[in-house]
Amino acid sequence: MKFENDNQRKVFDQVFTELPKIIAEKCGGYDELYGYKLNPEDDKDEAEKYYDKEVAQHLIYKMCKAFQFQKPLVVERIVNVLNWRKEFDPLSAAFFEAHSPELEDVGVITQYPEEAPNKRVVTWNLYGQLVKKKHLFKDADKFIRYRIGLMEKGLRLLQFTDEDNNYMTQVHDYKGVSVFRMDGDIKKCTKQVIDIFQKYYPELLWAKYFVNVPVVFSLVYGMVKQFVDAQTMSKFVVLSEGKKLAQYLKFAPKDYGGKQGNLKQQNISTVKPTAYGLYLLEKHNNEDID
Ligand code: HEM
Repeated sequence: MKFENDNQRKVFDQVFTELPKIIAEKCGGYDELYGYKLNPEDDKDEAEKYYDKEVAQHLIYKMCKAFQFQKPLVVERIVNVLNWRKEFDPLSAAFFEAHSPELEDVGVITQYPEEAPNKRVVTWNLYGQLVKKKHLFKDADKFIRYRIGLMEKGLRLLQFTDEDNNYMTQVHDYKGVSVFRMDGDIKKCTKQVIDIFQKYYPELLWAKYFVNVPVVFSLVYGMVKQFVDAQTMSKFVVLSEGKKLAQYLKFAPKDYGGKQGNLKQQNISTVKPTAYGLYLLEKHNNEDID
């Protein structure tokens, strides 16, 4: 964790110290972030088993950094994120629920341990393959739960205490999209997913590559860009050809200009929740059965 001045350190220390109280008073006791426990004070046994102070510190540092160490704003956003997680249950979307196989088919997660910092965990969205499957966007909730599930699985592979591997990289492949007009349902889903990422997943994206984007799609790009904040935009790279991706990701599979394998072979399909995540999922399920 790097602090540029004493004030940043002070804000971080204060937020971290006040966290148990914030969680108890403003988040209904919900203390899970990306599968990790944030509150060591609520339950002694749980804390002993699942609390890792270093991880908790790095997660809170990310929140402080995302909101420029402005204490009231940082606290407000932490509260929003935890309350959203309590409500949406993203761990369930990632590790418990079944999604449409057609959606599962276009989401891929890869891991390249030797890649440049923060390009080691990559989530791929082969959205071009969905251009003729508009029915998948009709029920926005289903699409969103699938997409958030993929995001959470990707996050599970990051190491939040390692500054070279605590951000993820994402690729959108629009191969197959030829004549394209942003359909209303796709637009709605896109807008909602972008909104959720911006509000509830700050400081996690390192780079985002849009590949196989013909120049004629500059209009679509211009339209989608309106929903995205400037900081996130600065991480985007648009490439007309898929093979150019290897210039940015040297371990990319052959179909993207790299040297080895194909994307589906590289897919990591068995991502497991953290121990705390699993505990919460089981607890939740038992409550539902009761
Ligand atoms: C974001 C789907 C075409 C540019 C998204 C998102 C979805 C999506 C669901 C939400 C963010 C995410 O899932 O990571 C689609 C589909 C398309 C399509 C199904 C057509 C089949 C295009 C085209 C462009 C484009 C042609 C032009 C480059 C973008 C941009 C974002 C985005 C800039 C914002 C990414 C972010 O904030 O993380 N798209 N899209 N999309 N899309 Fe597309």
